[in-house]
Amino acid sequence: MNPSLVTLLLFLSLKFLARAAMAAIPTGNVCLGTTNYTSNSQYEQNLNQLLQSLQANVPVSGGFNSTTLGTSPDQVFGLGLCRGDVKTTECTKCISNSTSEILRLCPGSKEAIAWYDTCIVRYSDSNFFGTVDGYRGGLLNTQNVSDVTSFREALGTLMRDLSSTAPYNPLMYASGQAVYADFFTFYGLVQCTRDLDAPQCEVCLENLIQKIPSCCSDKLGGQIISGSCFLRFEDSRFFTPSTTTAQPPSPPSSS
Ligand SMILES: *[C@@H]1O[C@H](CO)[C@@H](O)[C@H](O)[C@H]1NC(C)=O
Ligand SMILES: *[C@@H]1O[C@H](CO)[C@@H](O)[C@H](O)[C@H]1NC(C)=O
Ligand SMILES: *[C@@H]1O[C@H](CO)[C@@H](O)[C@H](O)[C@H]1NC(C)=O
Ligand SMILES: *[C@@H]1O[C@H](CO)[C@@H](O)[C@H](O)[C@H]1NC(C)=O
Repeated sequence: MNPSLVTLLLFLSLKFLARAAMAAIPTGNVCLGTTNYTSNSQYEQNLNQLLQSLQANVPVSGGFNSTTLGTSPDQVFGLGLCRGDVKTTECTKCISNSTSEILRLCPGSKEAIAWYDTCIVRYSDSNFFGTVDGYRGGLLNTQNVSDVTSFREALGTLMRDLSSTAPYNPLMYASGQAVYADFFTFYGLVQCTRDLDAPQCEVCLENLIQKIPSCCSDKLGGQIISGSCFLRFEDSRFFTPSTTTAQPPSPPSSS
């Protein structure tokens, strides 16, 4: 094989691996709370029941459910949300996985958030419903964009468009695509948890958009996350397009 072909294949497989890894692993988790619950405590029982309830109810409630169990000081509040483009079967899988994983990832935590590719699960010993959670973290795709100025502008425009649409969508979700440097298409998605009202959703997304420059504006992909909303962009389409979103014309093909 000629050396440049080998280099190209290596590059393509690395690119593929990076993307596969990003799609498969849990996006992240945070374990919170100043004290731990102990094993066999009332709090643990309530939490287990709550997670089971979310597992059963999120997929059948259209991809979102929030609930509370028990009484103070052992009361637990929780919610589960699937991304707006995700089908019920995938939602079921993601929520079952993350309700088990959150206990493994955050043993003893009275409060935790776990994000997966297509869903989020969150619980706490205090009532967080209807409160905007702030920035919790970012994850980036390490590939650099080829035209930073054009990309920043196009990404900012797309994210602002999506975050003004999502709050007024019943699923509090929006996805779309844009072109930078007159040629390269990229894709974006925003989502809020539906315990928020529309203005809160907008505030939540705006907070995350402000983090793009410090996280990943010059990268081909990134995710920024809070306990009540998230945004993501990639150079490949990672969501199922919604039929209501107008798609701009495809860029000219180079092949
Ligand atoms: C809670 O338990 C975890 C796991 O055992 C431990 O790493 C952590 O330090 C504990 N946190 C507190 C606040 O005690
Ligand atoms: C959660 O699921 C329960 C049981 O199906 C339902 O009664 C409740 O309305 C749902 N809550 C939300 C916020 O969807
Ligand atoms: C959840 O998904 C992760 C990543 O795909 C996997 O490693 C893990 O075994 C799954 N956990 C469960 C409980 O299915
Ligand atoms: C991306 O750009 C940064 C800064 O110019 C550079 O340090 C880094 O090596 C580049 N990364 C890749 C994967 O090309």
